[in-house]
Amino acid sequence: MCGIVGYIGGQSAYPIIINGLKRLEYRGYDSAGIALYNGKSTSVYKKYGKVSDLENSVAGLDTNGCLGIGHTRWATHGEPNDKNAHPHMSMHGKFVIVHNGIIENYNNLKKRLTTRGYTFKSETDSEVLADLIEYIYELSPISPDDAVQLALRKVQGAYGIVVMCTDHPDRLIAARKSSPLVIGIGDKEYFIGSDASPFVEYTDQVVYLDNDQIAVISREGLNIKSINNAVVTPEIKKVDIDFDEIEKGGFSHFMLKEIYEQPRSITDTMRGRVLSEVDKITLGGLIDVMPRLMNARRIIIVGCGTSWHAGLMGEYLFEEYARIPVEVEYASEFRYRNPIINQEDVVIAISQSGETADTLAAIQLAKKCGACVLGICNVVGSSIARETDAGVYTHAGVEIGVASTKAFTAQVSVLAMMALMIGRAKYNIKSADYHQLIRELMSIPEKIEHILKSADHIKEIAEKYKDSSNALYLGRGCYYPVALEGALKLKEISYIHAEGYPAAEMKHGPIALIDDKMPVIVIATKDKGYEKIVNNIQEVKARKGIVIAVITEGDTTIAAMADHVIEVPAVENAVGAMITVVPLQLLSYYIAIMRGCNVDQPRNLAKSVTVE
Ligand code: G6P
Repeated sequence: MCGIVGYIGGQSAYPIIINGLKRLEYRGYDSAGIALYNGKSTSVYKKYGKVSDLENSVAGLDTNGCLGIGHTRWATHGEPNDKNAHPHMSMHGKFVIVHNGIIENYNNLKKRLTTRGYTFKSETDSEVLADLIEYIYELSPISPDDAVQLALRKVQGAYGIVVMCTDHPDRLIAARKSSPLVIGIGDKEYFIGSDASPFVEYTDQVVYLDNDQIAVISREGLNIKSINNAVVTPEIKKVDIDFDEIEKGGFSHFMLKEIYEQPRSITDTMRGRVLSEVDKITLGGLIDVMPRLMNARRIIIVGCGTSWHAGLMGEYLFEEYARIPVEVEYASEFRYRNPIINQEDVVIAISQSGETADTLAAIQLAKKCGACVLGICNVVGSSIARETDAGVYTHAGVEIGVASTKAFTAQVSVLAMMALMIGRAKYNIKSADYHQLIRELMSIPEKIEHILKSADHIKEIAEKYKDSSNALYLGRGCYYPVALEGALKLKEISYIHAEGYPAAEMKHGPIALIDDKMPVIVIATKDKGYEKIVNNIQEVKARKGIVIAVITEGDTTIAAMADHVIEVPAVENAVGAMITVVPLQLLSYYIAIMRGCNVDQPRNLAKSVTVE
């Protein structure tokens, strides 16, 4: 949450920072701001709204300078407006700060600074930190770096910060605890970002700042130390982001592009891992932990949002094929309820961003209890990827649309590969079945390609229901998480209230909602629950409900009952179930577009939730 960009070097900082902020807007977009040093003085420009509003508001103003910081905000303390937007300048104008995270003891610090004469222009915790740094700096003759370090020792909470000091406009000071910061290294120039996307066209050499580290960055070099003063040797890594991945590539929205990318992203996720010629699945990242996985007493999957839904699909897959009991937990609940975890448990954290604060805290707790902790992340080098004992990357590519699409199907692909690999290693799956399951896995991209051809038909259905106020999604077995995910997509981007339910549970409550206005979307493909779901559809129709059914191609039985059908290719077993989410993603997308919603940046949401 919140995107941070910084630049120091020989180029004009303004365009680099503005373009970088636009790429980080998925992290928050309620206000934006920039601070620039033009060689003589420091200017701060801030604006409520999108980065483009900021850009318009500074047109004609002085944007010169080769050093600057920028921020795009997702509000935590203080409503979104111009004054709460970052950067924040300290009271005497010595420090300017951009901050991602929450300073938990800010109220205390604020009171103490108030007794020392400080007054505040905004309601934010971040301004308090800027003032605290300044207060310490002015107490005795110390460097701005030391002032930042001393101030951070007094801070509780999470932060990724970049600080400019107006007395020393030759450096940027960056520090992190729980909120990500990446430093890009160019030729006598340095970039800072919440991730590497703001500067991929300039450099692929990066240093990931670790928790409790402070970096002092000047044109001459980069020095990193820990908050307790230990010198740190920067470890330079290469990032692998393709520039095309962060452009819309002819699509009207990132979300649509990402939906259409799924055949490729799933193929990339399986490439080199599923070897169909020899009926083998190899996940290199798990080789060392295979004994622990095979002997796991229990698997606990933690995640949030869409990643939690992928976890529910994982539960089904692991129990079906690996025959290991699974619990799926919201990371935010798990971490606060004294869970019973022991050394025979394997905890799997699923996270697209690899930065979700609750998921990160959940794995830290699991590690403390001695569990083997694995990660399924999309962002290489992310905090969760680094904190876990081992893991598997989803190679979905950069996902920018706030509503997750291709990351979900890539996560489920990884879970399917894991479940089959463990199941086979434990001799739970016979050779012929294994062969068939691998075929099913390999056929997913082609099946999704086929579903994407129904986009116009799905658009027609969307047109009919775009003005609905409610929607119900039903599914059974491994299609229940698909129903949850379909409902989440609709509410996230179209603001229509939607609920996902196990189809059989409908009669214990949601059936009371059924009328001739609310669409009921049923995932009703031919599998072992088919007869039962046909009954559920009849129950809806008997109450004059509207049924939109996702069915297996050629199913005339449900086609005769439902108001609308969306056909998908036949799925042989649970491994292929994820394909049914694709028409639901498209349905939500078109409904949201028709309602005039901003699908890539839905209101109040952010993609990388680095606050609790
Ligand atoms: C936010 C996003 C969701 C995402 C969830 C978990 O709520 O808007 O799309 O599913 O965070 O994010 P993660 O990066 O951990 O998968």
